[in-house]
Amino acid sequence: MLDPRKVIVCRCEDVTLYDIEKAIDEGMDDLELLKRKLRIGMGPCQGSHCLLIAASILARKKGLKISDIRIPVSRPPIVPVKLKYFLGESRDGL
Ligand code: FES
Repeated sequence: MLDPRKVIVCRCEDVTLYDIEKAIDEGMDDLELLKRKLRIGMGPCQGSHCLLIAASILARKKGLKISDIRIPVSRPPIVPVKLKYFLGESRDGL
């Protein structure tokens, strides 16, 4: 049997199966709530690797079908933003 503390579900935010199951047991019964509490789906891949896995964990724990789980929408920046602004650098005087 795998140790849930060692099963990484969200690699970007280092969230384990244990973290997700614990949050669900504490009442986080919606994927949006799990996302806000644990930051799953908020890493560089924007949830492409973890949100469906988290949804399947939530469905299993709550006795639901995965189609009953609402997948949160991603919210990209409204306008393209140059990476230098995220790095805190300004090379052209801006
Ligand atoms: S693996 Fe979860 S946001 Fe990338």
